[in-house]
Amino acid sequence: MRGTVLITGGAGFIGSHVASELLKAGYQVRVLDSLVTQVHGDTPSRPAYLHKDAELMLGDVRNPDVVDEALAGVDAVYHFVALVGVGQSMYEIAEYTSVNNLGTAVLLERLVKHPVSKLIVASSMSVYGEGLYLTPSGVPYAAANRTTTQLKAHEWEMTTADGTPLRPVPTPESKQPSLASVYALSKYDQEQMCLMVGKAYGVPTVALRFFNAYGPYQSLSNPYTGVLAIFASRLMNGKRPIIFEDGQQLRDFVSVYDVAQACRLALEVEAARDLTFNVGSGHFVTVREIAIKLAQVLGKNLEPEITGKYRVGDIRHCFPDISLGQRVLGYKPKIALEAGMRDLAEWLERQTAHDRFNEMREQLASRGLVM
Ligand code: UD1
Repeated sequence: MRGTVLITGGAGFIGSHVASELLKAGYQVRVLDSLVTQVHGDTPSRPAYLHKDAELMLGDVRNPDVVDEALAGVDAVYHFVALVGVGQSMYEIAEYTSVNNLGTAVLLERLVKHPVSKLIVASSMSVYGEGLYLTPSGVPYAAANRTTTQLKAHEWEMTTADGTPLRPVPTPESKQPSLASVYALSKYDQEQMCLMVGKAYGVPTVALRFFNAYGPYQSLSNPYTGVLAIFASRLMNGKRPIIFEDGQQLRDFVSVYDVAQACRLALEVEAARDLTFNVGSGHFVTVREIAIKLAQVLGKNLEPEITGKYRVGDIRHCFPDISLGQRVLGYKPKIALEAGMRDLAEWLERQTAHDRFNEMREQLASRGLVM
């Protein structure tokens, strides 16, 4: 037995994989989760995918009494509770701020009273906004952004203000954040609050910035999740994936098993304290390629449909430099995209997915967030 770990939000996609990874490594795991209906359905119950040896405590992280109870006898904490829809965060502003920011604040206040040996907080690539770009002469260009005029003219690629093309390169943790949604703001707030309070009270803290994690148990019914789940739901319902812009956007899709590995290392490696790490696969791929690969592994003859429409606030290119995690954590992504997608497909074939793409598009369109 290697100690007891609390995972807030541990009934979710990534948290549940971390629970399994830790149980396999000999830890005891307690999960605190309120099983929100957007993820767990209208009559939420303990998810079948949650490892049977994980103790599940139902409750809200904003309730200090619940947090005290959850922290009893705990040696380390993963804080994964968060509402995760970027678009949705732009109209459910109070709820996002309450769950994500206030939830973290309550947890930290209680942690001051129950210090632990490690605190790990889930952050997101979304804090970067656009990834890092270089000018043709190799100078980092911090202000990469696209104007509405450019987007309306279908000028998708990033340029300097005078129209010089920019080259996307792997984004290091040192890139200045550029917060473009209430969600991204709340993730930055969560990570900085944990690092700051951790430092003040001597609790070694690690913030992990996840890139596009995929794998079994990702929510297929939540219309606000990432692109891969949305494409999967459409393909499984015999519909073509719908691509915004031209499909050449670059992302790093990282297997959730590799994410779980990084999470375990963040707990176990002593040198990992008061630090922030990117968590990705170290490879990038276009959104169009992902749609095609997913159709292939699912055996569906459905070409993606490229609409030339765009979503307000979408990022053109962002993929991580993972060398800091490789060096400090000894993190080594093991699952190549092809193998990870096949594993995902195997699980998908046993699921029913509700295609809620139109719901997502209508919600955003009614607020002028999709053009
Ligand atoms: C996503 C998550 C973000 C998370 C990050 C890392 C959302 C909305 N975004 O960011 O919270 O931090 O991964 O895990 O959940 N696209 C299509 N068709 C679709 C949906 C999306 O073409 O049906 C395109 C988008 O325009 C975008 C790309 O796919 O260019 C990626 O979209 P998405 O996964 O939603 O957002 P990320 O920016 O990757």
